[in-house]
Amino acid sequence: MIDLRSDTVTVPTDGMWDVMHKAPVGDDVFGEDPGLRALEEKIANLFGMENGVFVPSGTMGNQLGLKVHTQPADEVIIDENAHIYHSEGAASGLISGIQLRPLQGVRGILSAEQVNSAVREQNDWDPHTRVVALENTSNKGGGTCYPMQTVKDIYDITKKRGLALHLDGARIWNAAIATDVDLKEYGALCDTISVCFSKGLGAPVGSMLLGSRQLIKKARRFRKILGGGMRQAGMLAAAASYAVDHHFEKLEEDHRKARKLAEAVASSPCFEMDPAQVETNIVLFRVVRGSVDEALHWFHSKGVAMIPFGDDTIRATFHFQISDSDLDTAMSAAESYRGT
Ligand SMILES: Cc1ncc(COP(=O)(O)O)c(C=O)c1O
Repeated sequence: MIDLRSDTVTVPTDGMWDVMHKAPVGDDVFGEDPGLRALEEKIANLFGMENGVFVPSGTMGNQLGLKVHTQPADEVIIDENAHIYHSEGAASGLISGIQLRPLQGVRGILSAEQVNSAVREQNDWDPHTRVVALENTSNKGGGTCYPMQTVKDIYDITKKRGLALHLDGARIWNAAIATDVDLKEYGALCDTISVCFSKGLGAPVGSMLLGSRQLIKKARRFRKILGGGMRQAGMLAAAASYAVDHHFEKLEEDHRKARKLAEAVASSPCFEMDPAQVETNIVLFRVVRGSVDEALHWFHSKGVAMIPFGDDTIRATFHFQISDSDLDTAMSAAESYRGT
């Protein structure tokens, strides 16, 4: 099966297994895993940030990011399509006792004006705005990227109004490649960034929260409280490090394939989409003839798996284990679908 359901479905390559097998390990709760320590330093340096803490998932990275900035009854400004809002099981209420303030962005991207006008006064009766959380790329937005100027403008607002800026950078790697922005530029503007190694980079497990030494010290304590302290996790660090070294620069290939599929989809009268909206590795398209179920079955019968994304929309996501011939198969399936 050609698996376009997500970029999380990759399996380790031989080279990745090899470094995992040979990884030196130690007890990380005692701070003794050399590979994890090296990875935390390496990724913090890539983003020009002081420190990082390895976590099992992007969800934990985001939730620790919110936890270290907030007190119960604080509020976080966020796009209504954000993963933190939709897909983290209301964890921010459970773990931090905070409220999310979802705004209607454009395909997952907020404007600086919107953010500015959503910051509350500090009356007794107001939830106190504490954090602005951005998602780059936006998953539900269709892999959209924040223009760097917008991030800078939002950063200015957060500084002026005494807020923290958190970035859900699960796919920041894709955004950096697509917009040709150095990772350090994000590091210079954000107080915390959660990055994933297990999406397009292709590691089997792992994410990292980046920030100042002080914030990461706090995050490390909450990671342990949440049960995220790991022991001999050096093999995971080895996989993540390998993924950054070998797969980051190649993400443009996934973006190219996503654009090609988008063109095939757009050429069909059964689907609706604008290929110009494909910025990275995610393709969202509406089914206008037949139904999402019917189209998904059609793709499946041609050996291609995709997922439903709302009532009338399908998502296809590219990763480095999709070949050009897989892409051809997916394109032919899109072109030959007729719908009823
Ligand atoms: C934008 C975004 N943030 C965070 C996550 C959470 O990552 P994890 O599944 O590792 O918890 C995802 C997962 O797909 C995501 O798409």
